[in-house]
Amino acid sequence: MPASTKEEVNVSPNVAVAPPQPERVPDPCQVVIFGASGDLTKRKLLPALYHLQQSNLLPQDFAVVGVARRDLSATFAPDMQDGILKGGGVDNNDPKLKPFVDRIKYFATNFDDDAGFEKLKSYLADLDKELGTRGNRLFYLAVAPEFFADIIQRLGKHGMTQNTGDSWVRVIIEKPFGTDLDSARKLNADIQSVLGENQIFRIDHYLGKETVQNILVFRFGNGIFEPIWNRNYIDHVEITAAESIGIEGRGPFYEAAGATRDVLQNHVMEVLSFVAMEPPDSFAADAVRAEKLKVWRAIEPIPVENTSRGQYGPGQVDGQDVIGYRQEDRVNPESQTETFAALRLEIENWRWAGVPFYLRAGKRLAKRVTEVTIVFKNPPLHLFKGNTSDDKVEPNVISMRIQPDEGIALRFGAKVPGPTTNVRQVNMNFSYAQAFGKSSANGYERLLLDAMLGDGTLFAEGEGVEATWALFTPILEAWKKQGMNFPNYAAGSWGPQASCDLLEREGRQWSSL
Ligand SMILES: NC(=O)c1ccc[n+]([C@@H]2O[C@H](COP(=O)([O-])OP(=O)(O)OC[C@H]3O[C@@H](n4cnc5c(N)ncnc54)[C@H](OP(=O)(O)O)[C@@H]3O)[C@@H](O)[C@H]2O)c1
Repeated sequence: MPASTKEEVNVSPNVAVAPPQPERVPDPCQVVIFGASGDLTKRKLLPALYHLQQSNLLPQDFAVVGVARRDLSATFAPDMQDGILKGGGVDNNDPKLKPFVDRIKYFATNFDDDAGFEKLKSYLADLDKELGTRGNRLFYLAVAPEFFADIIQRLGKHGMTQNTGDSWVRVIIEKPFGTDLDSARKLNADIQSVLGENQIFRIDHYLGKETVQNILVFRFGNGIFEPIWNRNYIDHVEITAAESIGIEGRGPFYEAAGATRDVLQNHVMEVLSFVAMEPPDSFAADAVRAEKLKVWRAIEPIPVENTSRGQYGPGQVDGQDVIGYRQEDRVNPESQTETFAALRLEIENWRWAGVPFYLRAGKRLAKRVTEVTIVFKNPPLHLFKGNTSDDKVEPNVISMRIQPDEGIALRFGAKVPGPTTNVRQVNMNFSYAQAFGKSSANGYERLLLDAMLGDGTLFAEGEGVEATWALFTPILEAWKKQGMNFPNYAAGSWGPQASCDLLEREGRQWSSL
């Protein structure tokens, strides 16, 4: 998958049909979505729940209850049906659609209204009687972060958060979880004063992606990779989360977030933990989370010299002229928000000591790609010197493409056919689409199902979130003090030169350049 590859060898997907896993169907329950009139609910959550319904993975006795401020009782269910249809993979004649839409309910309250919460409690209890949902609740906070703690505390105050033995209560919290270490600690303390950690599901939709989960299967479900997955064989690791789009009209949100808070501290660090963790002793939540936490805690503090940040100016993306970040709607014309961030870190443990990890994330880059690149050390002797076009030994590379064109590629040198020994780099490719067909899963399906089942393996937990904030907070503080001469990269490029310097000063370069 790296752009420099000269030849492609597609591995024929001789996929043996795996025996189906036993179906995991949750208990009867209500999914209660706060912020239900927002974009996330219609575009992602309802389509995901409906795909679960199509796969017979929802309980028979089930309801979705939307909660928001405006009175949308008459329009909410049809509006969600519209979202489900637009989400794809379903048409109006689908026999499962009407029974599902009949179970979409709506309740209007302001989030700070105690009387409203008391009425909500009675409303949900009445629905239990009507629909047989037995008091089980999955609350989903699809709201701005400033509401997370308030809503949970109000749920607690009105007696809606206890696991009773006969019924369970769980809460999914959207990102971002805090904006720095102090705010993440405070949010943890606030919500843990009401909920047990096993009731809290901090969502990172990257962990719902098949390709991210497949990192663990690739490493621990195969015999041949793990023996070389260490400092003896790996030269360095790159993780890129590049977007070609800009901020899509979300100026105020992005001004406060930036690339580090939006992507690096959460999505990229989650992916890094899967790439770097030791094998857990089982795939149970506690075992996996413990190993992830060890990785983050083994990362040395990151000196600011090992970071770079950027902000895009005007440029061209896909042949179209695009404006710079400071010209975007509702963005400060002198904004210091970074739309690109890159850094180099080291994990000080037995497996990884001395292996640099280079991470980068940004908007308005040359193309949309999220990829993990494992670059291996060269063989000890250059036997074929003089037989490559540039007389260099190219390293072997494993690229794990998370999105788009999901798949894995192994790059290695091969003899070019002919009477001389010329070596050229080729790719052996595994493509998800070819091997398994396209999946409609958007990450939320798996995570909603897991939360209904009480399985927190693919969710962030409190200590882990604090561990990653402990790494990023000093960087953000140092950047704030320094100020930068933005913009410093053109839209449609691969970011500022300083990000390339992070590798070039060590004789390396980003693989996707
Ligand atoms: N959109 C995405 O694709 C996406 C992706 C990842 C994460 N997220 C996260 O998901 C969360 C929600 O995102 P969103 O885009 O869906 O948000 P949004 O479009 O801004 O929706 C906000 C919702 O909150 C409700 N609300 C706001 N103040 C309220 C109050 N005082 N009382 C009652 N309801 C109130 C609004 O209700 P009214 O309409 O009645 O005012 C609306 O339903 C955010 O934390 C975001 O960071 C979103």
